[in-house]
Amino acid sequence: MQRLRRLRRTRALRDAFAETQVRAGALIYPVFVCAGSGVKEEVPSMPGVFRYSADNLSEVVDAVLSAGIAGVMLFGIPARKDECGSGAYEEDGVVPQAVRAIRALLRARGGEFLIVADICLCEYTSHGHCGVLKDGDVDNDASLPLHARAALAAAKAGADMVAPSSMMDGVVGAIRATLDGAGYAHLPVMGYSAKFASVFYGPFRDAADSAPQTGDRKSYQMDFRNGREALREIAADESEGADVVMVKPALAYLDVVRAARAQTRLPLAVYNVSGEYAMVKAAARAGLLDERRTVDEIFTAFFRAGADLVITYHALDWARWRREGV
Ligand code: PBG
Repeated sequence: MQRLRRLRRTRALRDAFAETQVRAGALIYPVFVCAGSGVKEEVPSMPGVFRYSADNLSEVVDAVLSAGIAGVMLFGIPARKDECGSGAYEEDGVVPQAVRAIRALLRARGGEFLIVADICLCEYTSHGHCGVLKDGDVDNDASLPLHARAALAAAKAGADMVAPSSMMDGVVGAIRATLDGAGYAHLPVMGYSAKFASVFYGPFRDAADSAPQTGDRKSYQMDFRNGREALREIAADESEGADVVMVKPALAYLDVVRAARAQTRLPLAVYNVSGEYAMVKAAARAGLLDERRTVDEIFTAFFRAGADLVITYHALDWARWRREGV
């Protein structure tokens, strides 16, 4: 008889034949940076996640270093917003300031991890859309040079990688051309290639104060009914020179992750988004699920589906639990 239980009988057997490994070094922790000084405030919809001002990041840097995770991804919350999202591409904007502060802390600690800058306008526009508006819709081509300027500002501040998240057509190519022309040909671009218009971004918009004032993001983010189109988005980013591609959100999109894995040879990231985090936190707080085992099972599923890198608010917790041997 086929006895598949033979290799499951003891922990040693199970460990020896486990097909999937989760590594701290393949996790990225998103960090919200805001204007001001001495700020650390919890995001109400995301327990355990905070907004920090650029001068107050030493606690995060130390936690990321001791977690041994790959790095951080920065999101900026500016003091002021305007129609064209100028805060996104000011050379002294919140993200460039945070990049410089983290670089200085890393130098002081003699440590290293990746500093990734998210590139988008939605946190900086008064209307909350991811590009500039024309006749009530986002003007794709007028928004491209603004994204390229934002990427260049992050590069000049010392970011290791930029990640455009607005789902503008051609944004990876526009950023690539600008970086190449400015002496940053070595800087990788991670495209948010297949990013779906999703209810799961709700808590992030609370954290970043970036909910659209009118309408929604369905004219630029993907329709979640479409899997094949996600593969076209990934192919488009690849042809524009993306170094890493992404699927976002993660949990309800593992079929897309699996298909993307089969299509591209590029490294593949998945973004385990704010709403996915908030659901786990709420269930754990209500005593309905064991948080550690839930997060571990979810992470394992991402890697089993084919992800190389996971961007997740659980990163520090997971690494700590792993160190403590749970
Ligand atoms: C847009 C951006 C969003 C997220 C990352 N980049 C929000 C959106 O598209 O509305 C969401 C991340 C999350 O939910 O954790 N710049």
